[in-house]
Amino acid sequence: MKTTLFLTTLFAALALNAATLADNMKTIALELRAISQNVGNAARNVESSASAEKIAQAFLAGKAQPPVTVTELPAAEQGEALKRYEQLMQDAANLAKELTVALRENRNQDAQTILARLMEMRKVGHTEFKP
Ligand code: HEM
Repeated sequence: MKTTLFLTTLFAALALNAATLADNMKTIALELRAISQNVGNAARNVESSASAEKIAQAFLAGKAQPPVTVTELPAAEQGEALKRYEQLMQDAANLAKELTVALRENRNQDAQTILARLMEMRKVGHTEFKP
């Protein structure tokens, strides 16, 4: 019975190709590093813009994956914490979308500013929600 449940769960995860929140965060970190390295080089903007788009998608996926710092709260506190978590992830996704557009439009100075704001969001998000 346990084996059946395990296999069912495993196959479901494989079928969905489910990236965990940690996976999504790793993607975000990786793509951000690539953008940071190339943001001074407008010749790489098409590639950097694609990276920023991936970051936006990863934040949106992560929005639907509340961490244990939310799910393990007493039931009465979960609603508010979840709302705050989703808001932060949505704000971060919106910033990543702004970054996508700035790079597409070759506004590298703006891209620098948005990058700095994203790094600030990382601090806030991790202070509040990273286990
Ligand atoms: C630029 C922004 C961000 C970067 C580069 C980033 C990067 C990372 C990295 C590298 C990890 C560790 C993943 C691992 O386990 O190997 C992580 C974990 C985590 N981050 Fe972020 N993060 C960012 C923004 C945010 C925001 C805005 C939030 C919350 C609203 C957030 C919440 C979390 C949580 C909850 C974890 C723990 C996930 C888990 O272990 O299940 N992060 N992040």
